[in-house]
Amino acid sequence: MEQTKHLQDTPKIVIVGHVDHGKSSLIGRLMYELDQVPEGKFEELKKVSEKRGMEFEFAFLLDALQVERDQGITVDTTQIFFRTKKRNYVFIDAPGHKEFIKNMITGAASADIAILIIDVDEGIKAQTKKHAYILKLLGIKRVITLFNKMDKVNYEENRYLFVKKKLYDYLLKIDVEGLYDIPISAKIGDNIVKKSKKTQWYDGKPLTDVLDNYNYSQNENKNYLRFPVQDIYKLSDKRIIVGRVESGKINIDDELLVLPSNERVKIKSFEEWPKSKKEYHTGECLGLTFSEQIFVDKGNMISHLKNPPKLMNTLEANLFWLSDKKMNLNKKYTLKVNTGEYSINIRKVNKIIDTENLESSNKKIPNKNDVCEVVIHSSQLIPIDDFNVSTKTARFCLLDENEIVSGGIASLKNYPDQKELTNNPNITPVNFNVSEVDRASRFNHRSGVIWMTGLSGAGKSTIAKEVEKKLFFKGFNVFILDGDNLRMGINKGLSFSPEDRTENIRRTAEVAKLFSDAGFIVIVSLISPYRSERKKARDIRPEYFREIYIKASLEECVKRDVKGLYAKAIKSEIKDFTGISSPYEAPTNPDLIIDTENENIEKSVLKLESYISSEFSIKNC
Ligand code: ADX
Repeated sequence: MEQTKHLQDTPKIVIVGHVDHGKSSLIGRLMYELDQVPEGKFEELKKVSEKRGMEFEFAFLLDALQVERDQGITVDTTQIFFRTKKRNYVFIDAPGHKEFIKNMITGAASADIAILIIDVDEGIKAQTKKHAYILKLLGIKRVITLFNKMDKVNYEENRYLFVKKKLYDYLLKIDVEGLYDIPISAKIGDNIVKKSKKTQWYDGKPLTDVLDNYNYSQNENKNYLRFPVQDIYKLSDKRIIVGRVESGKINIDDELLVLPSNERVKIKSFEEWPKSKKEYHTGECLGLTFSEQIFVDKGNMISHLKNPPKLMNTLEANLFWLSDKKMNLNKKYTLKVNTGEYSINIRKVNKIIDTENLESSNKKIPNKNDVCEVVIHSSQLIPIDDFNVSTKTARFCLLDENEIVSGGIASLKNYPDQKELTNNPNITPVNFNVSEVDRASRFNHRSGVIWMTGLSGAGKSTIAKEVEKKLFFKGFNVFILDGDNLRMGINKGLSFSPEDRTENIRRTAEVAKLFSDAGFIVIVSLISPYRSERKKARDIRPEYFREIYIKASLEECVKRDVKGLYAKAIKSEIKDFTGISSPYEAPTNPDLIIDTENENIEKSVLKLESYISSEFSIKNC
């Protein structure tokens, strides 16, 4: 109940529509009718318009206030505050696609409802459909539709019905529900705050009444607790985790789950000055401390143990492509969701949808302003929700460097939750008394798995040995797991058949995990020729894992042939030899590439050494 109350305090309303269909006029008109125009402003603008021989328009009000805002005075026009008799509202004006998507995703403007405005005289434009589709994409499934400029069509009901039918046919197809349809004139003021006499045939309410009577809490999906970590403040010996409750509520007695580390923890305190409450609700910001020290980082997601978000490394998504630059399947983008950032690549474009007729297009790669369905892959695990569970925490944007190239929403039904894959209900992990934090603070670095993959003779062992030495003398706790050595012990008896190599990689990954649990930086030097198996190795503890591709062409390795094995393999004296009679799958998205064909050993060693120091030293955590 309290949750509903909080939401209803200040609902956020986003207004979309074709550029000339009257968004600014509507906002200007609302400001005027609700007495929110600074004194004298209206008269002043009217006079200016008369002087210039122009007809006054309500959109001028907004423009004028925009200018003042740019000079640092009055209001923020991307977020405009209104007060009706009943309550406050924030209207979010979305001047263009880019701003709109950005506003929607940064969370500053996770709207509770949308208004779609359409010029009845002009009818539906391509942009109207596109905007409606973006609403759907971002998980806003309910809209209030306003049929503006009724004065231009002599308040004719038939015209209104005609446009409405066309719009509603489209909304139905894209599964967006039109809740109210109001014939208005922002210019004259019909059906905005007061019911108009000119539309006797309209038996509904004016816009502000509709807004006042709407039950905003019905828009919340499941209301599970979602508390994305915005920052960690260190105050003397306290680590205060700060963020905003995006959905649900959090109580001082709750047991929490932190993702992606999948650790359970209890709350020690809520930190609010002068006095904290016992419970915080959707929309509220708070700081909290945990009863145990566990690693928590900006971007982590906190939930209850029941109904947590999923932990995904592959997911499907609906995207809106905003950039002039073409989507590139071989490129790394940054996915921003809630407060987290992840390096991803787009694996596949399943479908490109023409928003005009909703048909799939034949294109392979989307262009600017196209909508598409894609498969995204991340080398890190992403805590995220399916849009049916929580739209707010399913929305994300993609960045190329600092440019927002796309916005979208996650659909998680076709790929497994990595959390569930690793959880066996009959096995309970024992938590030791020496924690990761204890170890990391003693060693001054976090633990890590540096997984070097590459052909035999590419230089893995040579680089590993040098890097180990350097790091060791700098005080790092470091150890090498080398393929040849392991095959003399824990991996003894395994052949080079695909099955045995798979097992070889699995065991090595598990041993690496144990070393990393013990606080070590483990350098693994293993051909590990299969992408799928390296991925499994990463998934054991993705946040620890870095894949390093030690790159040298087969020709170069054959030429080097340090151990004389290639010569034997070519003469078929060794079977299943990698590169000759057995495949090697080079990484598509390694964390680091060391090109030993073009860089000398010193340079390669330096590159890896500084990479490891910068990734794992405690000062960088
Ligand atoms: S992996 O493919 O299973 O990951 P691993 O790194 O453990 O291989 O072992 C590779 C090492 O074993 C090579 O450096 C090489 O010295 C030796 N070796 C012996 N036979 C083969 C073979 N058929 N293919 C690749 N390496 C072999």
